Amino acid sequence: MNSYAVRTEGLGRRFGETHALADLDLEVAPGTVLGLLGHNGAGKTTAVRILTTLLAPTSGHAVVAGHDVAREPGAVRAQIAVAGQEASLDERLTGRENLMLLGRLQRLRKREAVTRTGELLERFGLTEAGDRLLMTYSGGMRRRLDLAACLIVRRPVVFLDEPTTGLDPAARADMWGAIADLVTDGAALILTTQYLEEADRLADRIIVLSGGRTVAEGTPAELKRRVGDRRVHVTLDAFEEAARRLGGEVDPRARRVSISAPNGSDDLRTILAELEDLDVEEASLAQPTLDDAFFALTAT
Ligand SMILES: Nc1ncnc2c1ncn2[C@@H]1O[C@H](COP(=O)(O)OP(=O)(O)O)[C@@H](O)[C@H]1O
Ligand SMILES: [Mg+2]
Repeated sequence: MNSYAVRTEGLGRRFGETHALADLDLEVAPGTVLGLLGHNGAGKTTAVRILTTLLAPTSGHAVVAGHDVAREPGAVRAQIAVAGQEASLDERLTGRENLMLLGRLQRLRKREAVTRTGELLERFGLTEAGDRLLMTYSGGMRRRLDLAACLIVRRPVVFLDEPTTGLDPAARADMWGAIADLVTDGAALILTTQYLEEADRLADRIIVLSGGRTVAEGTPAELKRRVGDRRVHVTLDAFEEAARRLGGEVDPRARRVSISAPNGSDDLRTILAELEDLDVEEASLAQPTLDDAFFALTAT
């Protein structure tokens, strides 16, 4: 029994002088989500292409669903699902017909294909749209159908390369719901994204890539903690007086003072007690965002 669905050691890929990916070590357990987070050119797609056997590594190795990607690519392919292949969908068919066709191509029996198609349309909010032609679908609906298409046959390892890039916020939120549901089937999921909020929302662990290298790794909470303490923000007219008493940073335009708050709500209470005689308009306790983490971790 291999307890990891995906495991890599020192995985790398060079293109001439470019190290598209270097020294990637990762482990993904079944039923968990790994987020590969990085800006354009960070090496995310290179990692996904190696793990899905589309590209040979130039160093290190990778095992996916118990098979080495370089030595047993066919066995790996039989165990994985990869989204982002809208090319395999037919504009002149309905959503339902597309899923049925893909199910049949993958040798599901007719009845199984009907059942699975119905389940997936339901799960991705496409039941009503299911009988409309694909050419009438919005960008968000296409992306959800594409995700459904890659799941028509259940596979233990699923790859999503930037599943929400280019979607508007509402369509992105719909996709997040759909993606979160995926993992309840016990699949291991590797998800790449440029959106910090997305990795924060969906991933159990995050690897931050920059220039092909791993610059940070951990749970979303660990990465945020590494960047710094929580802060209390207080807004009031007497912000100068508040800053005199508490220290901290002042933003005169916002009439706001920000104070480091390593003890969270205890600090918030203490601070409010200190300002009891002043007219505090607003007070809040803020976690550092993954955005803060990202910039701190990739700054050179
Ligand atoms: N086939 C290729 N030939 C040459 N360079 C490549 C090739 N594929 C990717 N690269 C380079 O490798 C780096 C990482 O690219 P990529 O993995 O696509 O990043 P991401 O998906 O994070 O945007 C980039 O500098 C890119 O230009
Ligand atoms: Mg990419």
